[in-house]
Amino acid sequence: MSVSLSAKHTEAFIAPHELEGMTAQLSAAAELVQTKSGLGNDFLGWVDLPVDYDKDEVCRIKAAAERIRKNCDIFICIGIGGSYLGARAVIELLKGPMHNTTGSTTPQIYFAGNNIDSEYLTNLLAICEGKDITVNVISKSGTTTEPAIAFRVFSELVRNKYGAEGAKDHIFVTTDRQKGTLKALADKEGYETFVVPDDIGGRFSVLTAVGLLPIAVAGIDLDGLFAGAQAARKELSLPGNDCYRYAALRNILYRKGKSIELLASFSTAFGQFSEWWKQLYGESEGKDGKGLFPASVTYSTDLHSLGQFVQQGSRNLFETMLWIEKPVADLTIGIDPENTDGLNFLAGKQVSEVNLAAFRGTVLAHNEGGVPCILLSIPAVNEYEVGYLIYFFEKACAVSGYMLGVNPFDQPGVEAYKKNMFALLGKPGFEDRQQELLAKLD
Ligand code: PA5
Repeated sequence: MSVSLSAKHTEAFIAPHELEGMTAQLSAAAELVQTKSGLGNDFLGWVDLPVDYDKDEVCRIKAAAERIRKNCDIFICIGIGGSYLGARAVIELLKGPMHNTTGSTTPQIYFAGNNIDSEYLTNLLAICEGKDITVNVISKSGTTTEPAIAFRVFSELVRNKYGAEGAKDHIFVTTDRQKGTLKALADKEGYETFVVPDDIGGRFSVLTAVGLLPIAVAGIDLDGLFAGAQAARKELSLPGNDCYRYAALRNILYRKGKSIELLASFSTAFGQFSEWWKQLYGESEGKDGKGLFPASVTYSTDLHSLGQFVQQGSRNLFETMLWIEKPVADLTIGIDPENTDGLNFLAGKQVSEVNLAAFRGTVLAHNEGGVPCILLSIPAVNEYEVGYLIYFFEKACAVSGYMLGVNPFDQPGVEAYKKNMFALLGKPGFEDRQQELLAKLD
């Protein structure tokens, strides 16, 4: 199994019989996922996606990615939430967080439409000046405000630069198979489209065209990702697997008052993967007044900020630590004959050995400070392992959500701010609400 779990550092908080006591609930929840018979079961297309994906579309994605890699300097990926987090997570994990400066992704890849930040958009426009650009707008609904605004800005830039005909080589649209304004616009303008499947929600969609086109543009091997996800699909349906144990452990800890799960990694390249994980778990479980609050830290960086809180603050959290056994790159610490910095005790050691000591030391310290630590490890960072890890977290999330008794596949709460924003902006149809809100604000 590619992802392995150790519960050793939860033992002071969870007795062995407690895990056993969850067996029936765990099996029932897993069964709901496997048989696609639970709440929100029309959004379980991701379960068999690793084998059932649309092979023709993936060929088309690879071909489009090759063309994009040749025809631009900058690729702009427009989307929000589940429509960009997965792609960004995979690209940064496999190509490094500095991929645009190290040149490990050509073209450079930027993300837009995930905020309403005028400064961000202005800076991105400045970066694009004089450069060949290609845009991939990704929105299942086709109406989400943030990507819609960014698409207006960047599609105008593309059309001004290449003309209506040339824009067809520089704009790609990932949206619903047949409905929605974005689909209608793409058909009208002749832009190539890719499909967000009906039965897969945004946060489970990284292995659909939503994630695959940007990931392929980054030069990442899609077959490797699918191979890992296929192995996970097979292995993680067996009883007692680590994905199910993870789901059970986090549910037990939640019921004991540990209401925050802190995903801790020791790799900066994992930072965006944590963002994807937070959305996956936050949107899937945080409803009906229930759910663990998913938070994340990157160590050792955050040991010098949130580390104090984790060690000695409110005892309402547990950590899930993700350890990568073999770093992508390593270097040896040199010797200083003067030893003025007193660091010669580390001379000749790899930086990764120091990181390992930080990991081990942190687990022990936090555990002694009253923080249960679930340890997950993966052997290395490559397409196969990343595909496996994605599926591991998706499956655990679905099983965990069912154990909690929620529908892990809807997100009704996301609408609340949108309604208010539309009302305040005077969108037709929201007039009554506008008066009500303005009165409250006054
Ligand atoms: O996970 C989800 O379903 C959401 O985060 C959506 O992906 C997000 O709200 C964007 O929606 P859309 O793709 O319709 O623009």
